[in-house]
Amino acid sequence: MARVAFFALLCAQAAFGLTISKRATAYFNPTANGGSLLNNAGNGLGEPLNVIVSGLSSPDVLTDDGILNFARSIGFSEECFGIHLGDPQSANLGDGNGAVNQTIELRQDFGDPSVGTCLESLIGGNHFRVYRQNGPQANSGALFLAVSHEEDVSENHTISPDGYDVGRNELVAAAVGNTNFNGVSYSTTAQDITGLIAPGTNGVNHDIAQDGIVTLLTVTIV
Ligand SMILES: *[C@@H]1O[C@H](CO)[C@@H](O)[C@H](O)[C@H]1NC(C)=O
Ligand SMILES: *[C@@H]1O[C@H](CO)[C@@H](O)[C@H](O)[C@H]1NC(C)=O
Repeated sequence: MARVAFFALLCAQAAFGLTISKRATAYFNPTANGGSLLNNAGNGLGEPLNVIVSGLSSPDVLTDDGILNFARSIGFSEECFGIHLGDPQSANLGDGNGAVNQTIELRQDFGDPSVGTCLESLIGGNHFRVYRQNGPQANSGALFLAVSHEEDVSENHTISPDGYDVGRNELVAAAVGNTNFNGVSYSTTAQDITGLIAPGTNGVNHDIAQDGIVTLLTVTIV
């Protein structure tokens, strides 16, 4: 259903040449309005939203197809043949939308966007979930990512030790600088933010400590 709606939106954009005007805010702090920098993994705990793609990024990067293309430029693909391992997780970004399921889940593709994510499912790797801050009370358009590094399937896809910080650092390292995919070139800068989430394990799924750093990426199409 969501895919159909999304396809319809793409068609509408193609037909009418709609463009989304540039936003004015990098992000709003979710905790200022009842939200959290932890998602909801369904067990009362959550994964840290440890990367934000700034609302000041190029508007085309912040769409569903835009973030997918950017993700491919840094070595991620859609999940292996659409197979979901595990249930979707929700997040409340304090934007008035309440808890909303992830928009998309992407996995490291190991250099081959078609079969690489299947490899990720077998041997582990980096993955992330995407949440969009676009509710009426905090409409930054920013994308909040829950990034983690997973063990392989024999470990039941548990998060690696230190897997939140490691996953974030790997993603940021791959993103910063110049990347391109499918004819679109990106220039990306990073800035670490503290104070949005306390370091430690409080509320964190799998009892894995995180360092309290959220990295803000500003992605510009060049
Ligand atoms: C998220 O998706 C699951 C499975 O489709 C559904 O049961 C649940 O109600 C959804 N949660 C939210 C907050 O939309
Ligand atoms: C993975 O899950 C299966 C089934 O729940 C369980 O039997 C097995 O012990 C788990 N493996 C690990 C490494 O946790």
